[in-house]
Amino acid sequence: MLTIEHLTKWYGALPGIQEVSFEVRPGEVLGLLGPNGSGKSTTVKILTGLMRPTSGAVRLDGRDIFDALQAYKAILGYVPEEPHLYSHLTGPEYLRLVGGLRGISRPALDEKIDRFLQRLGIYDDRYQAISAYSKGMKQKMLIAAAVLHNPHIIVLDEPFSGLDVSAARVLKAFVRALASEGKLVVFSSHVLEVVEQVCTRVVILKSGRIAGHDSVANLRTMLQLPSLDAVFAALTAEEDVESRLHGLLDAVHAGSAVSI
Ligand SMILES: Nc1ncnc2c1ncn2[C@@H]1O[C@H](COP(=O)(O)OP(=O)(O)OP(=O)(O)O)[C@@H](O)[C@H]1O
Ligand SMILES: [Mg+2]
Repeated sequence: MLTIEHLTKWYGALPGIQEVSFEVRPGEVLGLLGPNGSGKSTTVKILTGLMRPTSGAVRLDGRDIFDALQAYKAILGYVPEEPHLYSHLTGPEYLRLVGGLRGISRPALDEKIDRFLQRLGIYDDRYQAISAYSKGMKQKMLIAAAVLHNPHIIVLDEPFSGLDVSAARVLKAFVRALASEGKLVVFSSHVLEVVEQVCTRVVILKSGRIAGHDSVANLRTMLQLPSLDAVFAALTAEEDVESRLHGLLDAVHAGSAVSI
């Protein structure tokens, strides 16, 4: 079990997250949901061991991940929010590099890569440099790279951004299936429907703090609201859409000398 205990991260004088605590059990897809700037990626970066918290701890089966970081990273797969890919490499070259670093030996690695490329629909583009890939194709590469070594813990930060409906449908089912094998999955997103479809439990963040934490069904029942959308709006909305819209339009028109 992954235990996130009282995580707090200060960026200088600015609080990124404060007192964030939750658990992820094997077989579970834990959704991290929240508006822009609410602390999802900060939480994710700490629980992938990329960044140390100011205070608090992340423990895997009771052991602080920072005390055995290399071993922890070996069983971790991570899809980052920003696509960091070596653009001059082709897809298979990139996956061979990642697989090699992960200790997967060839020819098993080559066979694995072929399967991924075929199933993700990028096999025909295998001789092209990643710089020529579309946004969705790059996102598929990131997902393949994250799970190539069959990790026990999978952390996905906005993993479906740029994916078309059919690719997203397959990958949603893929994430659920990986969890049902007993893996621990953390899934960060601000797309409500996706979280509702993929996650078993959800942590709702607002301004760096936990605003709600329960199963999707319980959150709905507890707040007597029909959808996660309504729950999210109730827990996180600071001002209504209408007043934000007018504020934005005012900003567009402000200072305009010419009217047509
Ligand atoms: N490197 C940084 N330096 C300073 N402040 C940061 C840094 N990274 C994040 N923050 C701040 O921490 C807060 C949480 O940001 P974070 O990126 O975790 O949010 P998020 O929920 O992932 O947002 P989004 O949905 O836009 O990806 C924000 O106020 C942000 O400005
Ligand atoms: Mg983010």
